[in-house]
Amino acid sequence: MKGLVLAGGTATRLFPLTIVTNKHLLPIYDRPMIYYPLDTLAGMGIREVMVIVGGKSVGDIVELLGDGRHFGLDLTYRYQRGALGIAHAIGLARDFIGDDAFCCVLGDNILRGEPLQGIAEEFENGGYGAGTMLYKVPDPERFGVAEFGPDGSVIGFEEKPKVPKSDLIPIGVYFLRPDAFDVIEGLAPSGRGEFEITDVLNHYIPSGKLYAPVYEGHWTDAGTVPSLLRAAEMAGADHEAGTLPPPVARPVDG
Ligand code: G1P
Repeated sequence: MKGLVLAGGTATRLFPLTIVTNKHLLPIYDRPMIYYPLDTLAGMGIREVMVIVGGKSVGDIVELLGDGRHFGLDLTYRYQRGALGIAHAIGLARDFIGDDAFCCVLGDNILRGEPLQGIAEEFENGGYGAGTMLYKVPDPERFGVAEFGPDGSVIGFEEKPKVPKSDLIPIGVYFLRPDAFDVIEGLAPSGRGEFEITDVLNHYIPSGKLYAPVYEGHWTDAGTVPSLLRAAEMAGADHEAGTLPPPVARPVDG
C-alpha cells in the first residue's frame, strides 16, 4: 500500500496560532503535529508516502521532513491550491497512487495505542472498496457522523450534522483503492463548498464494500484549540508510560 498525508488548509479554527504558520508544524507535546500521521502510516508498514501541502509555510514542511529517510519513509510532495476539501486533496494524488491500494491520514489526526498493520491488511485483502475507522466522541456534530441500520452496520455518513444520528464518527484515516479517483471526479461540492470524504465513503455502502471497524486505541484530531491541548495530553500520557519513542530529528545535512 501507499500512503497520503493531507497537510493543507487554512486552519482558521486555530487563529491566531496559524496566521503565519501551517497547523501541521505546531507542537504536539515533543514534536511537530505532522510526525504523528507519518508514524501512523509507517506503523502500517507503508513506505511510499505523498504529503499534500497547502496554506502557510509549505517550504518549512518540506525542510522539516525532507525526503523522509530519517522516518524510514520515501516522501514526495504535491501542492493543493485553495481549501476545497479532503476528497479534492486526495484526487491530486492519482498519478502517485497508480494501481495501488492506499491509506490517507489527515495531518491533524493523532492515533495512539492500537497497532494498525492488521487493520490495513484486512482492508487490502478483505475485498473492501473503501474503509475508515469509527470512534466514539462526545461532540459528534463537529465531524462526519455514522448512521447505523438495524443489523448494526453503517448505512451512511453525514458531514457535520446539526442533529447527529450516533456518537460514532469516521476518524481521519481512509483506506481506498484507485477507483476512488473516479468517485471523487463525480462528486459535487457540499453546502460548505468542499468535496467531502464522507460522500466518497457513502458511495461504497450500498454494495456492502465499506470497511469500518471501531478503533480501539486513543484518537483525537488537533484542529481546534481544545483538541490541540487534548492531543498534547494524550502524547504526554504516552511519554509518561514509556510508549512514545523519542522524536526523530532531521539530519543536519539539510
Ligand atoms: C474531517 C472529515 C470528518 C472527520 C474528521 C476527522 O473533518 O470531514 O468526516 O470525522 O475530519 O478528523 P474536519 O475536521 O477536517 O472538518
